[in-house]
Order: sequence, then C-alpha cells, then structure tokens
Amino acid sequence: MIEHDVLIIGGGLAGMSTALHARQAGADVAMMSKVHPTRSHSAAAQGGINAALGIGDSWEVHAYETVKGSDYLGDQDAIEILCREGIQDIFNLEHWGVIFDRDEEGRIHMRGFGGTDKSRTCHVGDMTGQTILHVMYEQLLKINAKSYDEWFVTTLLMEDGACCGAVAMELTSGKMEVFRAKSIIICTGGCGRVYEPSTNGLIVTGDGLSLAYRVGALIMDMEMVQYHPTTLPANGFLITEGTRGEGAYLLNSEGDRFMQEERYGATTLVEKASRDVVSRAETIEIREGRGVDGCVLLDCRHIKDRILEAFHQIYELAQDYAGVDIAQEPLPIRPGMHYIMGGIKTDVDGRCYRHNGDGMEPLPGLYAAGECACASAHGANRLGGNSLLDCVTFGRRAGVHAAEYAKGIKPASVSEQVMQQEEQKITDIFARSTNQRAAALRLEMGNIMHEFTGVFRDETGLLEAQRQIHAVRERYPNVSVDDKGRVFNTDLVSVLELDYMLDCAEIIIASALARKESRGAHTRTDYPERDDENWLKHVVVYQTPEGPAIDYLPVTITKWKPEVRKY
Ligand code: FUM
Repeated sequence: MIEHDVLIIGGGLAGMSTALHARQAGADVAMMSKVHPTRSHSAAAQGGINAALGIGDSWEVHAYETVKGSDYLGDQDAIEILCREGIQDIFNLEHWGVIFDRDEEGRIHMRGFGGTDKSRTCHVGDMTGQTILHVMYEQLLKINAKSYDEWFVTTLLMEDGACCGAVAMELTSGKMEVFRAKSIIICTGGCGRVYEPSTNGLIVTGDGLSLAYRVGALIMDMEMVQYHPTTLPANGFLITEGTRGEGAYLLNSEGDRFMQEERYGATTLVEKASRDVVSRAETIEIREGRGVDGCVLLDCRHIKDRILEAFHQIYELAQDYAGVDIAQEPLPIRPGMHYIMGGIKTDVDGRCYRHNGDGMEPLPGLYAAGECACASAHGANRLGGNSLLDCVTFGRRAGVHAAEYAKGIKPASVSEQVMQQEEQKITDIFARSTNQRAAALRLEMGNIMHEFTGVFRDETGLLEAQRQIHAVRERYPNVSVDDKGRVFNTDLVSVLELDYMLDCAEIIIASALARKESRGAHTRTDYPERDDENWLKHVVVYQTPEGPAIDYLPVTITKWKPEVRKY
C-alpha cells in the first residue's frame, strides 16, 4: 500500500494547481494521471485566461458579466472569488514564468472574448493552456512533487463514510496498487468525449465524475453542456473564440453577418455574444437553409495580419484539416461540444457533498477542482477564458483546504482486499470473447448524445436518448478486448473508460429531462422561455440502485438579480 496525505487524481491545470498549493501548505502530496501531465487536455486551451487587468475594467465588471453569461444560474459567491482572486493568480503565473503576450507598452496584452466588450483575456498566442501547463510542471519538478504518471484509477476507497484512497493500475506494467490518503482531490477534467464530435482530447472521458458519483457525491448542473460556436466539421477541432474576439465575422451562405439580426438578441456584441447565444444562432441559420454544407463561415480575411501574428496554431489547423488558408478565404465551422458547466458539486474550497435523505452534507475527504468540479462559477453557460482561471484559482483553494483537512485526521484503515475485487473486474473483462468492441459503443453513445442532447433538446428526444443509452449500457457487460496482456493495455483502458462515460451520459440526460425551461446552454424547444419563478435552482443528481436520482439546490445570489439577457 502506498500512502500520501493528499492524493490528486488528474494532472492538468487544476491538478497541478492543487498539487503546488497543497505542497506549499505543507502536505505530502502526490499527483496521479492516466497520461503524462503535460499531455493533459488543458494543453488544448487556445484563446486565453481571463483577468480584469485592463484600464476601465474591474473584478466587479468581470463578475457581473460572468453572472450574466451564466444566465443567472452561477453561484455569485463563487463567481466573486473567481474574478477577484483570479487577478493575483495571473500575476503568480507570470512570476512562475508564463510569458503572456505583451501590448506595445509592455503590459500583458488582453484580447477580446465572448460575453464582454472589454479586452480581458490574457494569452500566449493561441497556445495558452499548453504554455501554462509546462510552466506549472516546471514548478512541480522544482519542488520534487511526487507524480504517478500513466496510472489509471479504477475505484475510490471509502471507510467510515469518508473517502480515504483509491485503487489504480500502473499502465506501463498493469500492476494494481492501493493508495491510502487523508484527502483525495479529483481533477480529471470534463467528459467531452461522451459526445461525438467534441473539441476535447480522446482522454476526456469523465473518469473522475463517475468515480465521485459512485461513492455518493452529488453531481450538479450536468444538463449544461457547452457547444463552442467555432469547431471544424470533420473532427470537432477548436478554432479559438479569440478570432471573433479580435474581429472575425460569422457569415451565412448569403454572405450576411447574421449575428447582427435582432432576433438573435446580440445587436451590440454581435459575434462576441456569449457562446450559447452564438451556437443557437448558427444552428438556426443552418437549419433554415442558410448554411454551407452543414456549417456557417468564419471570415478572418480582414484581420489577416493579426491572424498571422498571433494565431499560428489555428492558421495551421485550418490549413491542414480543412484545406483553407484563413488569411485568404472564409472557414466553414459549426457548433461543437466543448465543455461541461456541471460537475461534482463543491463549495468554494473544493469540498464535495453527498445526499443524506433530507438534503446534502459534506463527503469527508473528497475534493474536486477544474472542469470535473462544479463550484458553480459558470452556471448555465461559461464565458470563454474563465475555465483556465477556474482551474488555477479553485485548484489553489482546493489544494490548500485539502492539505489543511489532512493535517487534522488520522489515516483510515484500508483493507488490501479491495484490490482483489478490482483485479477480478479486469479478469472478467479478459475472460469475455465476444465481438462487441468498446470503440463501437463509444461512437454510438457519442452520436446519440450529439443528436438528442446538443444545442436544442426536447422531451421526446431526451427520452429517446435515455432509451438508447440504456440499450448501450445493457450491451456494455459484453464488451471484450483483443489484447489480454497487462503492459500498456489501451484496449482494456478504453473498456473501463466507457463505463465511466456511460455514467456521465445518464446523468446529463436525467438532468436535462428534469429542467423544464430554457436557460443558457440548455435550450428546450418544448419549454422555450427562462422560468426564474420555478427554475432558478440547481439540478443535482446522486446515484441510487434504481439509477440517477434528482434533487435541487438554491442558487446563491449576492448582488446581481436576474435580468433579461441581451448582448
Ligand atoms: O475559444 C477558445 O479559445 C476556448 C477557450 C475556452 O473555452 O475558455
């Protein structure tokens, strides 16, 4: 058995931020990731990280715009913390060595992004996530932080009602180990690949969400799935919002800048309206016959100098994967699954909760941060640039608090027997000899989710999604693998990941069925209006033997009362 004070599962930006701060707070920390940490999905974040550093900007304006972006579902105490404390976190990143792009006076350059007319998004060209990830990794190396790279967690451990460890498999050998810890922080990212296509890396399979759900954690706001307005149709690759932030247009097949139309509610910010608004407008244009091969067009020609200067990655992506020189011609793009606003319900210090029959109570020992978590800073729609900030700021807070918590408790007694149960799971998978492959079921699941739980939903479609996902779940126990070896068995890992993804799919559908209104990214064509009287509340899901059960939690409102949302 391996022991640490704090075990962090996930090695992206949130994982690294928790690890660095838990270590600074004096804990013996270990970070564990199924990939090498610098290959985490945070590396794919292109456009930037928000902070109200500009003249005429303030954390209060940032917070108000985040609340409005969230369609008033975000908890305003969490949003205030994100926008206020995030400023110092950006300076901290810079002191660690993140060389943000500069303006002509040598200050951090901030680009425009969605949901605001301010320039507030600090960036490193269009490779911001990658840069921050590498700098943080250097910091972890500097303090000799323990990192278990390429380890896959198969279950969390509970003792006396508290989370006290995990069982994980070392992928390079197939060996299983029990890890005992006083606090566990889940930082495994979102569940983007529950959808096909998605901007998310293939590794983004909702592992931590499902692990937490299975030990009773509340999962909140999972109906809030963000479709990013500009993704490549062939493969879902992201084309950063920074292009629109710096002036690119969206055109339909008739050459019109359709976002200027009154009916889309964004005559002021136009293409820079928040993502839910733009993705809905694009989808309507395409459905009403003004699309171009299932897409609309992103026109960057008039900002080509800026593209060639600060968007090298997307210039090459468009060239290589769509055959388009965006300095010369418009690029076909469409909305694609990008982010989940919901996740493991936490407070502002990363603590997780469970249902106790009457309401909720803390789940001792379990913390979460980053996209897998829901501190509720994004509500029904996240503003671009706020997710890296969420990872860094709430990662820091979770790290500090998990370290403090660990100081106050004795190690739980953990039986190694649990490892045999986990070994048995693997043995059972190896024993199957069917032709049912995980990849086929995964694709089927992704298509179902995209078709019925995408930009627009309704009850009929959601019930159909539920039925079809249930049918996929029934076939899951027959999934077999060709590779029966233990060394780097990615075939086996894909079977285990699919199990986690199906949990996420079920939770998303149950939550979307529960919310009978339209708010932010959740657009129900059968309930087209926002309904604050009945639905200004969070949907929470918890596991029961009969499947996902639903309850509700109030939204925290501090200063900003819900208003009609126009851009
Ligand atoms: O468009 C983008 O660069 C994505 C940023 C984000 O999701 O925060």
